[in-house]
Amino acid sequence: MSNNGVKWLRRVFAALAGLAGLYLLACVYFQRGHPRAVLGPESKTAFVPDWPSGFLWGTATAAHQVEGGNTRNDWARFERLPGTIAHGDTSGVAAGEWDKVADDIALMRELGANAYRFSIEWSRLEPAEGRWDEAAWAHYVDEVSRLRAAGEEPVVTLLHFTLPAWIAERGGATAPDFPERFGRFAAEAAKRLGPRVRWWCTVNEPQVQMYQGYVAGSWPPGVKDHAMAVKAFAGLLRAHAAGARALRAGDRDARIGVASNMIYFEPSNRWNLLEQIVTNTVSNGFDWSFDESIARGRMLFSMPGFPTLDEPAPELKGTVDWVGINYYRRNLVTFALRAPGMVDIHAGPGTLSDAGIEIYPEGLLALIREGWKRYHLPIVITENGVADSAGVHRPLFVRQHAYAVKQAIGEGIDVRGYFHWSLMDNFEWAEGYGQRFGLYRLDRATLARTPAQGSEEFRRLAPRGAMIR
Ligand code: FCB
Repeated sequence: MSNNGVKWLRRVFAALAGLAGLYLLACVYFQRGHPRAVLGPESKTAFVPDWPSGFLWGTATAAHQVEGGNTRNDWARFERLPGTIAHGDTSGVAAGEWDKVADDIALMRELGANAYRFSIEWSRLEPAEGRWDEAAWAHYVDEVSRLRAAGEEPVVTLLHFTLPAWIAERGGATAPDFPERFGRFAAEAAKRLGPRVRWWCTVNEPQVQMYQGYVAGSWPPGVKDHAMAVKAFAGLLRAHAAGARALRAGDRDARIGVASNMIYFEPSNRWNLLEQIVTNTVSNGFDWSFDESIARGRMLFSMPGFPTLDEPAPELKGTVDWVGINYYRRNLVTFALRAPGMVDIHAGPGTLSDAGIEIYPEGLLALIREGWKRYHLPIVITENGVADSAGVHRPLFVRQHAYAVKQAIGEGIDVRGYFHWSLMDNFEWAEGYGQRFGLYRLDRATLARTPAQGSEEFRRLAPRGAMIR
């Protein structure tokens, strides 16, 4: 080969090596967006946790899923439409909790729990616009008093998916006065419950509400419109801000947070740049956009196929004292030529629950670390659980996820609590009663609760003698 030819080949080789180097660097850079976590080997053994003092250890429920008799919200209407809920179920009497508060508090004690996260049903409390239902308020005042008396710290969610029919009719989260009406509701809650409640969660899983309601259309209002979805997201953000302001004004010691559903997204191949970038995009959009908007005082939402939201909202700043993580699963992001947008998002290869999602406790540790790195605020695991009718997965599930929390605390991360979803089996939204998440099994005919597999392990891991008063 001539000298020129050799030189030319060398140049091509150097250029290719340079490009490969850049590619690898880019991969390493994007991998920082979703670092992996590894649990210590004792996560599968009967380890004894040493929870920090005051650690909240409890179960979580939501009004519409457990109370029964909720007929005045958007879900009650939606459920009656044919084909909306699996097996034609409706929430109906649910777990009958409205009349069983005392019994259920006894179950919490049996579980060694010192806290209970539940939601108050706006449509019961304000059945018609501007009219408070005194009996309904009295019910919740009584509930928080009973919880306190039993040594159970109440953690109250104001909005767990269901909206009063009167605001839903006007556009729900997209109605112009939605934030203001929600703010009024929050102010009333602070006034009535404030003296007995410290921990407040304004909104549960806003991105899920937006996605199911306005993208998939499988929840109320049953719309498929990406622009409306972003409008609803902005409405929920503004509502959160109004709610937090009202809670703070009514209760100086309020500890306010949002419970966000977080999926641990991971690229199938850590050296595939496209998968890396898409993973970061979906994780930022789905997991973090609400929290990030609050932290930056700007409404931010950006996902391919959606109009971009980027507007100043300084009223969001400083509205949270803690970050709530609802964790259930890992999803893998895979490059697939035939998939829409050439990307397929699916369950990982591990054990699947009855919900068809992967059980992956390492993802909880990864997300706790990520939340801490982003905000340096206390973290509460506001939900974590598994649909497991046969009760074969739950004992190890509880153990390993608790271990992930313990490991995070051991790393110096300020995790304040863990709430298992759920106290008892309940109405699982569009899945109806088919999926069983309860530490207590619900007999739907008699409403009897009996301990499910996993409840023993939950009790074993409870903080010793740590009643919070
Ligand atoms: C969460 C919801 C909760 C329940 C669990 C299984 O996303 O917040 O209401 O349905 O999933």
